[in-house]
Amino acid sequence: MKNKKLFREILMKWHRKENRREMPWKGEKDPYKVWLSEIILQQTRVEQGWSYYEKFIKHYQTITQLANAKDEEVFKLWEGLGYYTRCKNLLYTARFIQEKYAGKFPSDYNSILKLKGVGSYTASAIASFCFNLPHAVVDGNVLRVLSRYFGIDIPVDNTEGKRYFAHVANICLDKNKPGEYNQSIMDFGATVCKPVPLCEICPLRITCIAFNKNKIDVLPVKLKKPAKKERWFSYFIFQHNKKKFVQQRTAKDIWQNLHEFYLVETTHDPEWNKQKIKKYLSGELSIKDFTGVSIIKAKPQALTHQQLFGYFIVVKLNAEPDFLKNIPGEWLSQNEIKTKAFPRFMHQYLSAKNALPQVLLF
Ligand code: ADE
Repeated sequence: MKNKKLFREILMKWHRKENRREMPWKGEKDPYKVWLSEIILQQTRVEQGWSYYEKFIKHYQTITQLANAKDEEVFKLWEGLGYYTRCKNLLYTARFIQEKYAGKFPSDYNSILKLKGVGSYTASAIASFCFNLPHAVVDGNVLRVLSRYFGIDIPVDNTEGKRYFAHVANICLDKNKPGEYNQSIMDFGATVCKPVPLCEICPLRITCIAFNKNKIDVLPVKLKKPAKKERWFSYFIFQHNKKKFVQQRTAKDIWQNLHEFYLVETTHDPEWNKQKIKKYLSGELSIKDFTGVSIIKAKPQALTHQQLFGYFIVVKLNAEPDFLKNIPGEWLSQNEIKTKAFPRFMHQYLSAKNALPQVLLF
């Protein structure tokens, strides 16, 4: 492969002289802080993750403090970031490091990679930033930069492509300054070689194959993605004596351990209307004495492999219905609800219910 050395040198010079991207974890050597920032950034944009990172560092200055924290408190702090498995793994790993390594972060690549929630990207970031180990990061940004600059048209998302790009990434890496190189390519992909790139200011364009062969729009090559699974969440918000019925999710599914209202899930739009809701409440749930029902259509939310849709159906009750006495859950006041962690999908209702278009049915 031609121009590896040139690529690396121009990239790192750009980083030293022109890269203006400021981030609180940049240049950080403490593996706890780097690990935390990388977990946050796994599925979150820098602008959104920034304040969460600062909040976590303020609450838990060391891994030992995080390991000793209460689950509910940490979930509450994570609230709104989504992909809660990250938070679960964060706690698990903090406690694991506390137990197994007396709170000291492991310093070899394989031990780092074995940590729950840490994949090859995160392990390479921690290993290179904190321990100067020669491991190249490979993510969507890096694949875009490499495939364009070297004109590689192998699909990036099959096994062969992944293996090939990991090889290319590692031969481009500056083995003496792996952390600096990794940060350079991450920032370059995020700010210059973006999906719609800024070729007019790109220092690599003279030797960039995609630029010179007019292939910017076709690289990187990606295979077709399977359609996302549709899920419809109809939340019945039962209100009685100024309290609402709340449950905790326990299944091995999205949002495990988080809280929610009484859920009816379907694979298609239930197309609720007055008759359907009345029939459902009095038929399926045997609730006869509700005093008001209103409905809000939720704003859809896209996850990596799922597309979520839903409704919030607020039901004002005169008495506690029998069926709720026999299922797990509790009646909580507004203040109690505020202490619990809810998925972001629910936040649109919790934080803005008065501003949402609401239809009063009964
Ligand atoms: N995305 C993931 N890790 C990052 C980092 N260290 N800097 C910028 N963007 C990132």
